[in-house]
Amino acid sequence: MSRTIAAALLAVTVVAAAQAADDKGEVIARRWCASCHLVAADQTRASTQAPPFSAIAKKPGFDASKVALFLLLPHPKMPDMNLSRAEAAELAAYIKKQGR
Ligand code: HEC
Repeated sequence: MSRTIAAALLAVTVVAAAQAADDKGEVIARRWCASCHLVAADQTRASTQAPPFSAIAKKPGFDASKVALFLLLPHPKMPDMNLSRAEAAELAAYIKKQGR
């Protein structure tokens, strides 16, 4: 196999892995967060108190690693969802994408 083909195959694998991770964040968001937050552009109803993910991502100073940390700490207005570190990171990455 030529080096170019090997490199191309590797690139495809890496991108596919990243997309799978994004999907995971979306699955968790739709399952655990959508009752209060607007988590995606196609969602029409949510609680009026919780900010939409797109608005969170557009806040000045938004930082995915801070959001991931925030999600691991208990906070009064949100139920403790017992997220793993990996899940919190995937959610934060997903929220970041909603700001585009
Ligand atoms: C029971 C309702 C509820 C659920 C479920 C919920 N949230 Fe929230 N969330 C809120 C409310 C209300 C706020 C606003 C808190 C405040 O104003 O102090 C908030 C705030 C946040 C913030 C901080 C926004 C900011 O700019 O400070 C983030 C990030 C967040 N939620 C992410 C999530 C994620 C991710 C999930 C799912 C794993 C989730 N929330 C599930 C109600 C909820």
